[in-house]
Amino acid sequence: MTTQPSQPIRIVLDTDPGIDDALAILLAVASPELDLAAVTVTGGNCPLAQGVRNALAVLDMVRSDVPVVPGVALPLIRPPFTAEETHGDTGLGNAHLPEPSIQASQDHAVDLIVREIMTAETPVTLVAVAPLTNVALAIRREPRIVERVREVIVMGGALDVPGNTTPLAEFNVYVDPHAAYMVLHSGLPITLIPWDITSKVLFTQEYVDQLLRIDSPVSRFIADATSFYIDFHLNYFGYAGCSINDPCALALAFRPELAEYETVFVDVEIESAKSMGKTIADTLNVWKQSPNVRLVRTFDQTAFLALFMERMRDLAGRHANS
Ligand code: BDR
Ligand code: CA
Repeated sequence: MTTQPSQPIRIVLDTDPGIDDALAILLAVASPELDLAAVTVTGGNCPLAQGVRNALAVLDMVRSDVPVVPGVALPLIRPPFTAEETHGDTGLGNAHLPEPSIQASQDHAVDLIVREIMTAETPVTLVAVAPLTNVALAIRREPRIVERVREVIVMGGALDVPGNTTPLAEFNVYVDPHAAYMVLHSGLPITLIPWDITSKVLFTQEYVDQLLRIDSPVSRFIADATSFYIDFHLNYFGYAGCSINDPCALALAFRPELAEYETVFVDVEIESAKSMGKTIADTLNVWKQSPNVRLVRTFDQTAFLALFMERMRDLAGRHANS
């Protein structure tokens, strides 16, 4: 049992929505421990404009006025690489949300990230669940964010398991490996939750069915979005459920005790075509580098899934059809 901080933790959530990004947005909205300053968006699972539209539609569904701030559309150096086979043509699986009634912010994600971190009274946590393009450019725009930010929680990398995008690389790092390199070498206080961990956190049809007992657009959305994602995980990985990567990262912002960590140096390959985006943890410190991440090594998925379901039930209930 943790004591709840008297003041919610202010976060910026950097996304490429994306089915599991949408679930992370919902978890952030549903969690009173957090004060969600903005949802920033980059190109990734789907092109930037589609990702922005998806973030707006998800927030509109739960009548949230959290700003959605578009960021950088393309990776720093490599060509764009999207994931329709994983997230569907719109990025939200089989869900078809109404045209959002709210508009995207005129601000830019890189400016928002810098301003939030530099001007907040209490340090801000950045949760990055997308290719790291926006974060890398925020460091270049204002290097002092490295000292000011409370924590940067990154979902990305495949260290001791095969990648989900190439045999070696995980999607978020593969899409913009140069941005990942900049972030890993920046001195930011990074907590890294890799595919090694999140791929095992399976959201199954049983959970969906439980939520569907609440007649609500929220449960309907979760069912429609994850039906595509569950089929993909079964066909591609043979998993009985979908890996909900991004909400795991989000939960660590207020429930760090869900994980056990190792402080270690992690690097990323940015030169070789075949191993592009491969993340490597130097656990034996062969390279004699100072640790640059707090790497999640174990994760209490039972406790996390209980938390996730509690929060989704609550959100669905708040927006239930009468
Ligand atoms: C990551 O890649 C994306 O497809 C997901 O949204 C998640 O952020 C998992 O590798
Ligand atoms: Ca994502």
